[in-house]
Amino acid sequence: MVCDSFSGLPEPNEDDKIHILPGGKTSSYSRGMFSCPLDTVKNNIQKYGDISVCEFVQGWFQDTLPSIKGPFIMGFIDVDLKESLKTCIEYLYKEFSEGSRIYCHEAPHLENAKIFFDNHWFNVQFKEEAPGFYGAGTGLPLLHVSNTIGSALGYAEKRGRGKL
Ligand SMILES: C[S@@+](CC[C@H](N)C(=O)[O-])C[C@H]1O[C@@H](n2cnc3c(N)ncnc32)[C@H](O)[C@@H]1O
Repeated sequence: MVCDSFSGLPEPNEDDKIHILPGGKTSSYSRGMFSCPLDTVKNNIQKYGDISVCEFVQGWFQDTLPSIKGPFIMGFIDVDLKESLKTCIEYLYKEFSEGSRIYCHEAPHLENAKIFFDNHWFNVQFKEEAPGFYGAGTGLPLLHVSNTIGSALGYAEKRGRGKL
């Protein structure tokens, strides 16, 4: 299932406009960034992937995700904004089976990674403990760039333990 606005980011909240990464690097965001029309995405998947396994869901997450049903065993969330990430978790987390991995492409962004450690928020949303996030702050050790090993990729594992 491929979910996106296909018209780029929504307007970021004030505290989502700039993310500060470990080491002092920053990422800034604005409405419409990363916009790519659905037809272009489909053409690329036709060229390099297998479109027969894809189902496309176009629209803002708060409108499209509430009706999406699992069960899922793996997810890849690359949505940049922490508000968008929270919307994805809010609607989709319960659709993942125990033991699922939910990969996220903003591992070095502590604003995003810390959502996966927020016990209070997970308790309110799902009556369970936060899963934590492997690779928070550094990313999984997949790439070697200028004397550091890391990547943008990390993951949360839905443990199904610690039901509150
Ligand atoms: C960095 S791009 C990644 C796109 C794609 N996953 C990839 O790997 O090429 C971030 C994507 O998140 C989408 N996005 C972020 N927040 C969204 C929201 N609230 N609703 C729908 N799409 C959103 C944007 O449209 C954009 O395509």
